[in-house]
Amino acid sequence: MKRVGILTSGGDCQGLNPAIRGVAKGLYEEFGKNVEIYGIKDGYKGLIFGEYKLMEPSDFSGILTEGGTILGTSRQPFKTIRVIDENSVDKVAAMKSHYKKMKLDCLVILGGNGTQKTANLLREEGLNVIHLPKTIDNDVWGTDITFGYHSAVEVATNVIDCLHSTATSHGRIFIVEVMGHKVGWLTLSAGIAGGADVILLPEIPYDINKVAKTLNSRIDNGKKFSILAVAEGAISKEEAKLSKKEFKKKRAEENYPSIVYRIAEELQDKIDNEIRVCVPGHFQRGGSPCAYDRVLCTRLGATAAKFVKEKTFGVMVGMVNGQCVPVPLEEVAGKLKSVPVDCGEIQAARQIGISFGD
Ligand code: F6P
Repeated sequence: MKRVGILTSGGDCQGLNPAIRGVAKGLYEEFGKNVEIYGIKDGYKGLIFGEYKLMEPSDFSGILTEGGTILGTSRQPFKTIRVIDENSVDKVAAMKSHYKKMKLDCLVILGGNGTQKTANLLREEGLNVIHLPKTIDNDVWGTDITFGYHSAVEVATNVIDCLHSTATSHGRIFIVEVMGHKVGWLTLSAGIAGGADVILLPEIPYDINKVAKTLNSRIDNGKKFSILAVAEGAISKEEAKLSKKEFKKKRAEENYPSIVYRIAEELQDKIDNEIRVCVPGHFQRGGSPCAYDRVLCTRLGATAAKFVKEKTFGVMVGMVNGQCVPVPLEEVAGKLKSVPVDCGEIQAARQIGISFGD
C-alpha cells in the first residue's frame, strides 16, 4: 500500500483544486486500490498539529472548476503558529512525527516560494516531498509558469476592462493596484491585456514627473482618460536607492494604505483631470480557475503522481519549455523570479507607447 499526503500552503489561488484532483486521480490510476491519500488540513499547520484525514476518491470529484482549496491553507507556519502542544515546541519535529505517524511514502506540497522553502527543509530532514508551483505572482524560480497566475491575469484584466468605460465617460484617470507581491508579472500581463497607458512595476522604478508628463501629453492630445496599472510592489527611483531598513521606515512614516494612494496624491498636484483609485485586491485570487490553469494543474498533478510511482522525490514539478520536469528543490528553494526588464512583453509594450514611468 502506498500512502501519500497532500497539503496546500500559503495564499490560496485559482487552480489549487484542479491540481489536487490531478494528483489524486493520477495516483488512483497509477496504483488502483493500493494507495491511500491523506488530506492534510490548512497547510503545514495541519502537519504540525496532526490534523489530517484519509480521503475518498469521491472527495476529488466535482472540484475541477472550484476556486480555493478543499484542504484549507495557512501562511508562514514558523511565524504564526506559536503553540504546538504541551510537550513540544519544535515545529519541524512535529511535522516529521506526523509524517511518520501517517506512514507516508511521500508528501505532495502545493504552494509558492515560502512553501517551497519549507518543503526543501523537510527534504533536508529526510522526508520524501514533491512540490507543485502555485501562485498568482508567477515568481517561482525554475518553472516557466505557476498555476493561478493566468486566472488572476484574467480577473485583473476584466477589472481594467470595466474601468475603461467609466474612465472614458468621465475623462478621469484611474490607478489600478494589481497584486504580485514583490514582482510585476501579473501587472505587466494584465496591463498589456487591459490596454493600460502606464504600467508601473517593482523591476522598473518610476519617476513621478515622467508619469505625470505621459498623462498630460495624453490630455493635450485629446485623450482625457488614462489607465495606470500599478503593481502593489512598485517603487519610485528615489526609493530604489534606499536600504531595506530605510525603505521600510519611509513607507511606515508615509502611512498610506498602499502605494497607489500615494501615487494618486502626487499626481493630482500635477494634473487637472480627476484621479480615482481602484484596488481589486483578493478578487484577483478568487473564482473559478481559467481553462489554461485547469489544463496546467492537471498536467502538474498527473506528473506528481508519476513521480511518486518513479520515486522521484525532493523536486518541484516545473513547467519548462512546455514539458513537466523534475527540478531539484535544493537548486531553486528561496530564489525569486522577477520580470527581466528586457523581456518581450516589456519591449512590445514600449513599442506601442506604453510608459513604464522611467
Ligand atoms: O502571494 C500571493 C498574494 O496574493 C500576493 O500577490 C499578495 O501580496 C499577498 O498574497 C496577499 O497576501 P494575503 O492573502 O495574506 O493578504
